[in-house]
Amino acid sequence: TYVVTERCIRCKYTDCVEVCPVDCFHEGRNFLVIDPDECIDCALCVPECPVEAIYADDRLPEGQERFFELNAQLARAWPVITRRKPAPADAEEWREATDKLRYLEE
Ligand code: SF4
Ligand code: F3S
Repeated sequence: TYVVTERCIRCKYTDCVEVCPVDCFHEGRNFLVIDPDECIDCALCVPECPVEAIYADDRLPEGQERFFELNAQLARAWPVITRRKPAPADAEEWREATDKLRYLEE
């Protein structure tokens, strides 16, 4: 499966959802996740993300491993999103930020 990582938090550009052939993105208040039970590993979403937040589960960047379980867990709780929507007004300011997990709104 593919996994949305920390860089998405507070950026949430949603370009990724438009290309997913199986509609497996789920939306929280400031983050998106992928349902691992639905993702077919097509990788179409990867180049769509302006902040490079999406990785294959076996190629997660160092420190991002916990997002594997987090995507699975939050996908069960959050609704599906299939249409792009405007990013948060301050999304650009969070592009380069690190250690963003503490800002995740569940
Ligand atoms: Fe959807 Fe393909 Fe991305 Fe999986 S890899 S979330 S199926 S676009
Ligand atoms: Fe997040 Fe990138 Fe999609 S910022 S919402 S994973 S386009």
